[in-house]
Amino acid sequence: MKKNTTTIIMVGIISVLAAVLTGVLIFLKKQPPQVRAVIQSIATIQPLEADSSLWGVNFPNEYSSLLQTANNKTPTTYGGSAKKSYLTEDPRLVLLFMGYPFSKDYNQPRGHENTLIDIRATKRVTATTHATCYSCKSSDNPGLWAQMGMEAYDAKLFSDMTPDINNPIGCANCHEAGSMRLVITNPAVEVAFQSEGVDWRTFTRQQMRSAVCANCHVTYYFTGENKVLTVPWANGMSVEAIIQYEDGVNFSDWIYPDAGTPIMKARHPDYELFSANSTHFKAGVSCADCHMPYLRDGAMKYSSHDIMSPLLDPQQSCGQCHTDVENVLARVSVIQDTVYQAKISTEDALIDAIIAIKAAAAKSDSAPSLLDEARSLHRHAQFMWDFISSANSMGFHNPDEALRILRNATDLARQAQMKAAQAAGDASLLTTGVYELMDPKPTPMP
Ligand code: HEC
Ligand code: HEC
Ligand code: HEC
Ligand code: HEC
Repeated sequence: MKKNTTTIIMVGIISVLAAVLTGVLIFLKKQPPQVRAVIQSIATIQPLEADSSLWGVNFPNEYSSLLQTANNKTPTTYGGSAKKSYLTEDPRLVLLFMGYPFSKDYNQPRGHENTLIDIRATKRVTATTHATCYSCKSSDNPGLWAQMGMEAYDAKLFSDMTPDINNPIGCANCHEAGSMRLVITNPAVEVAFQSEGVDWRTFTRQQMRSAVCANCHVTYYFTGENKVLTVPWANGMSVEAIIQYEDGVNFSDWIYPDAGTPIMKARHPDYELFSANSTHFKAGVSCADCHMPYLRDGAMKYSSHDIMSPLLDPQQSCGQCHTDVENVLARVSVIQDTVYQAKISTEDALIDAIIAIKAAAAKSDSAPSLLDEARSLHRHAQFMWDFISSANSMGFHNPDEALRILRNATDLARQAQMKAAQAAGDASLLTTGVYELMDPKPTPMP
């Protein structure tokens, strides 16, 4: 009898324990998975909120690291965040952009918090500049684009838009309020992905960690009188596909003075160059992996929003994947020096071509069809050179592609020079090394 009671009590206790254990397991299973660094929301953020400080209430680490981008001032060999004029550093650029505002003022990019100070200070902005130039500079834009549409935004003058632009780059440029997911916020980039038959909403999280940078770090041009922002990807993202597209719509940014070449300007195609099968792209590495490494704040892990040159903190930026950081840094040096030298050779070839085309154009008896062939070669060579020159990282993002493009650009530029000499029937136009002989060297245009 006593033994029976004990058994019943034991079975009872075991059943209760089992029930409790099951309950605990069910409870644990129903808990949402640990979400990295996203803390309980304490403030509701309105959709497209332009003021990053309001988002910062919920995400203090992301916010304070974003603010740090205002303070970065350190230069690196080819990049970094110091104020640096590309035109005084390499006066060849003054010649290559002659007749276009880039020959007046063209500086090394700085951190994201500086966008409004820098765009308002540049001499490239004049009384007739359109608001389009604010497109990649402010977290006010997603809200303004939703309100007025991109075409109406771009049709306004820069100065007329200024009162509505109060915030530099901020959370609303990259995140959807509430869900905090990464989003394409630039309507021109949305259209560009569509034109390629790509729906960014199907991208993986890792793909979005690069695509979100494509909101701004892509090449573009302005369509029509209203200067509508257009990303020329309809034929693909390679330099050849972009040239084919801009040739097809007969686009040019300006006509090169005295040479008569219709030039198209390339603009920081960081996303395009990186995606052209670079080693890191093929390995599934994203822009954020190198430029937004994870940091720790106590138990919390967060992505550094202090976006800058990874060479300023290589241990964080590269060390998470590469154990021998010194070794990969040495590789970066070799890559950048090699690409820089190739870029200078292309510039010298382009300048020789321009001088020859100008001379041929000045002669009344030059053969017009040969002269036009020379201009067409110059147009393509200059865009290819600019595709690499205006892209950031001095070739590191994709060394093979950068050197391939510069090699072809140099070839086309030398062909352009030869065509011009042929057009003029004047072998003296085959003179090379013209820039080296220039004394004094050109200075930025007033
Ligand atoms: C494998 C690492 C890596 C990846 C991935 C990467 N970058 Fe970079 N990035 C670098 C390095 C290294 C530099 C050169 C910095 C320097 O010269 O100081 C650089 C330079 C830059 C710069 C200029 C910064 C400066 O200070 O000169 C920008 C802008 C940039 N990258 C944007 C991007 C974008 C956008 C992507 C994705 C499309 C990307 N990067 C992918 C490593 C990376
Ligand atoms: C230039 C684009 C960009 C801007 C601007 C930006 N973020 Fe992010 N943010 C990212 C990327 C990329 C990630 C990484 C997301 C991932 O891994 O899925 C991220 C991640 C996050 C996360 C997830 C946790 C973490 O740190 O990885 C939070 C929270 C966040 N950002 C908050 C903010 C807030 C708040 C702001 C404004 C103060 C902001 N972000 C501005 C690109 C941006
Ligand atoms: C809303 C537009 C926009 C987005 C989105 C954006 N950038 Fe930028 N980025 C800029 C502009 C504009 C500058 C130059 C600012 C200046 O010089 O004042 C810049 C500068 C930079 C620099 C140079 C910083 C320095 O101190 O040298 C790096 C690196 C960079 N961006 C990387 C990225 C990466 C990586 C992403 C994606 C995670 C990204 N950017 C997303 C517009 C953007
Ligand atoms: C998220 C991981 C990751 C990060 C971060 C990363 N790399 Fe890499 N890196 C790789 C992988 C993967 C490869 C390809 C390795 C291979 O194929 O052997 C690679 C290859 C390289 C190579 C050899 C490229 C070639 O074509 O031979 C260099 C140089 C390099 N990385 C430099 C850097 C530098 C500098 C940084 C920091 C700015 C960096 N990496 C950050 C993953 C990364």
